[in-house]
Order: sequence, then C-alpha cells, then structure tokens
Amino acid sequence: MRAGDCLGEMGAAPINGDWPPHLHFQIIIDPLGLDTDFPGVAAPALRAVMRSLSPDPNLLLRLPPACFPAMGRTKAATLRERQQRIGYNLSISYRQPLKIVRGLGVYLYDDAGRPYLDCVNNVAHVGHCHPHVVEAGQRQMAVLNTNTRYLHDSMIEYAERLTATLPPQLSVCFFVNSGSEANDLALRLARAATGAFDMITLDVAYHGHTQALIEVSPYKHDGPGGRGRPPFVQKVMMPDPYRGPYYGYSSASGRAYAAHVQTALDAIHAQGRGVAGFIAESLMGCGGQLVFPDDFLFEAFEVVRAAGGICIADEVQTGFGRVGTHYWGFETQSAIPDIVTMGKPAGNGHPLAAVVTTPEVARKFANGMEYFNTFGGNPVSCAIGMAVLDVIEQEQLQANALDVGDYLMARLRELMSVQPIIGDVRGLGLYIGVELVLDRETQAPAGEHASYIANRMRELGVLISTDGPFHNVLKIKPPIVFSRANADHLVDNLALVLGEDAVQVG
Ligand SMILES: Cc1ncc(COP(=O)(O)O)c(C=O)c1O
Repeated sequence: MRAGDCLGEMGAAPINGDWPPHLHFQIIIDPLGLDTDFPGVAAPALRAVMRSLSPDPNLLLRLPPACFPAMGRTKAATLRERQQRIGYNLSISYRQPLKIVRGLGVYLYDDAGRPYLDCVNNVAHVGHCHPHVVEAGQRQMAVLNTNTRYLHDSMIEYAERLTATLPPQLSVCFFVNSGSEANDLALRLARAATGAFDMITLDVAYHGHTQALIEVSPYKHDGPGGRGRPPFVQKVMMPDPYRGPYYGYSSASGRAYAAHVQTALDAIHAQGRGVAGFIAESLMGCGGQLVFPDDFLFEAFEVVRAAGGICIADEVQTGFGRVGTHYWGFETQSAIPDIVTMGKPAGNGHPLAAVVTTPEVARKFANGMEYFNTFGGNPVSCAIGMAVLDVIEQEQLQANALDVGDYLMARLRELMSVQPIIGDVRGLGLYIGVELVLDRETQAPAGEHASYIANRMRELGVLISTDGPFHNVLKIKPPIVFSRANADHLVDNLALVLGEDAVQVG
C-alpha cells in the first residue's frame, strides 16, 4: 500500500454495528487468531499488553499533535501542583490519590477511564451529573443570574416547595451557599432571637468551618490544631447506642442521654447566663454514622425550649429523603426544630444551602441590620434546587433509599455474622455505618483495619471512607439512586477484603 491509496470507506451506522460512522485505525501486530473479534478497546489495567500488540498508529500516520485532544496534566503533576498551590491542610482521600475527571449516576471515573462505585458521596444526592439537574442549571444560566435584590419567581417557588416538605411552622427561608454558611447564620438567628450567646452541642459534632462553627464543633476544637471548647459552649455526651453508657435504641436510653442536656443547661445557668440554643445533627456523621436512641432529640428539644433556647437541626448530611422513612432526619425522632439547616445534597453538587425557621425567630433576627448574601438564592441556584426536588419526587428516591438501605443493611448484617471484626451495623435508609472492632467484648476500635479496608476497596473500584472518633466506622452514604445491584457489588467486594490476612481479628 502506498501513500494516497484508499484504505476503505466510511459506512453508515447500520453497517457499522450501530456505532456512529467514525474511523478506527488500529495496528495489530499479532491478531492472536481472533480475526475481526480482536478488541478495539481495553481496560486501563491491560494498557501495557495492548500497546505491545497494537502500537501507536501515529507512528505510521504522523498526524500533527494539534489533531489530538490535549492530555492535560499527568496525575503526578496535578498532585505536585496541588501540594504547592492549594491550602496545605486540605487532605486527599486514599493512600493512592484518585484523579477523578467525570461522574455519572453512582459512578466516578478516573483519568484512565476506570469507573469507581461511589458509596460515600452524599452531595451528588440524585446521582452525579443528573441530566435534569444539569439542564435546569444550563437553561437558567443562559437567561439570567443575579443577586436577590430584584424580584424573581424562582426564589419564591423554591421556598414554597422546600417549606412544603417541612412542618408548617418552619416557613421562612434564607438561601446561602454552603452548609457552614447555613449553620453560621443559624447561630446568629438563635442568638438574636434569645439575646443570649451560650450554645450547647454534642461531643464529636462537626457543623462547619467558620470560627463560630469551630466553637460548636468538638470534632475540630478538640482535635489536632484545636484550642478546645470555649467557655460559652457546653458539650454533651454523644448519644451512642453502641458504645455509650446507655445501650440500645429504647426511649429510656434516649431520655437518659437527653438528661445530660439539662446538665449542660445547669452549667450555663450556674454562671449567671442564659442559653441561646442547642445544635445537633439529626443523625451524627463525624460521631460515626450514629442513629440516636428513640426520642433523644424530642426530649433534648423539650429541655432546651423550657430554658428559653432555640433548637437547631443540622440536616446538611441527613436531609432530602436519605433516611428513607422520612424526608428529614429530625422527623425520625418525633422532634420539630426551630431552625433547620440544609446544604450538601440541596444542589446535587452546586453550592446551594438554606436555613429555614419560624416567622417568630425570623422577626427577631430582623433587628435593623440587613441580611444580604450576594450569591444565596440566585436564579440559577434555585432552578437547580427545584430540579433536585423534582428528581427526588419523580424517581421516588426516598422510597428507593429505604428499600436499598434496608437491603444493604441486611446483607451487611449477614457479613457481620461471619466476620468478628464487624461490631455493629447501623443506619437509616442510605445513611449507614459499619463499626469495626478488634474484639466484640472490649469493643476495642479497629481504626487501622478500617483504613486498610477503605484503601483496598478503592483498589477494587469501590469508594467508601471512615469516620467516628476512633476512625473505625466504615461510612456508607451513596447517591440515593443506589440500586440493590450496587449494594451487592459493595458487599461482595467488602466480603473479599474482610477475608484478607491483614484484617483478621480475634
Ligand atoms: C453535618 C455538617 N454540617 C455542616 C457542614 C459544613 O458544610 P460545608 O462543607 O458545605 O460548609 C458539614 C460538612 O461536612 C457537615 O457534615
């Protein structure tokens, strides 16, 4: 064959295996007897062997580099640059960092095209890059995006739809851009409404990264680099039905933990001050994916209100149907907060968060100082927020979270029956924790084993992470489009890793 000779002609889709017409030019040194069945693509792991059989065709074609898409930085270069140019205390997941370049549904894809089952990203609530959400953002972005000092229907419609999911007294919204902004504002509302400053929080809680939130986040102020609890914050023991002094999920246990909230109130009163409020997640994330014993929040809220305080439910991780039985986590505790904060899943990855409160609290906050937020509640964010609500409703994702969550927990409990390292499996819907112990009697935490398992799972293409004060809880909170087949894939791989020598206990 000479330069200029015709190699072939482009066929229409039907004679091209229904692929859109394209040129596939591949050199095959040894067809291995496969003839036309020789693979045209291969998994990243087979790259070296494929290259030895099918060398770069541009050795022959000699097309100029401009004909090829830019490859971007190598993973190593991205890591190096990040270590220099990005704040030094922003950690990277996994011993072998991942360079993720695409997401779709429950999958993330790395720079080599390898898919990873995402079992931990509770931000991509209705699935990564859900087309309805993407389209809503794109459409509104092409029309208008501006601040909220003009009238616009999208903010009103979103407020109406969001408050329709909440108890009727929670009817006034503030739109912000992150969970931290939402909780920071919630503290301001509580302090303005009561004229008091002291707050009560749960041990090991995390509520955000601003100064005011570090103060109510023992996970941060008691951790590395922290300065401990400030005098105006009281910390209450985590209601941990597995490890705490009151075992189990009974209402008696819930009330026993809530009694410690009264002790915190007494400590504030003893210093001659009043309480501004109590902030708690409805299920605890950093505490180790904890489900509270029955009525804990209900009782704690009663006690705080009796002392004149405001009750804040942080639903940044737990809201929007994830817990399956209810739309909001606090509903599982029969509790009604005065303020509810939401974030992560609200915009499915777009920075959208909200504070919803009662007209009474909102009126007291409106004390003359204007509240303005440049980006909060803009038309693009609201369009995206409404698209997320559409998908939850249309795809019945709350029911899916319940069905798949129950199925997944049942399978994890089966695994627990043969794996002594699993001390506890707990959760509601698709908010699940698997607590690992060296010994079920002593409950000695197996933190190093948990880290090993998360890293091995990543090698197998399944993303989970760890949490809890001893870093020994496997945290599972996938996009709530997660299916039973996804759950099987997760548990089958976990079973494989738990069979490895490095994680044998007892
Ligand atoms: C329970 C809880 N509240 C608040 C926040 C802060 O949200 P953001 O990171 O969006 O500021 C987080 C973040 O992890 C969280 O888990």
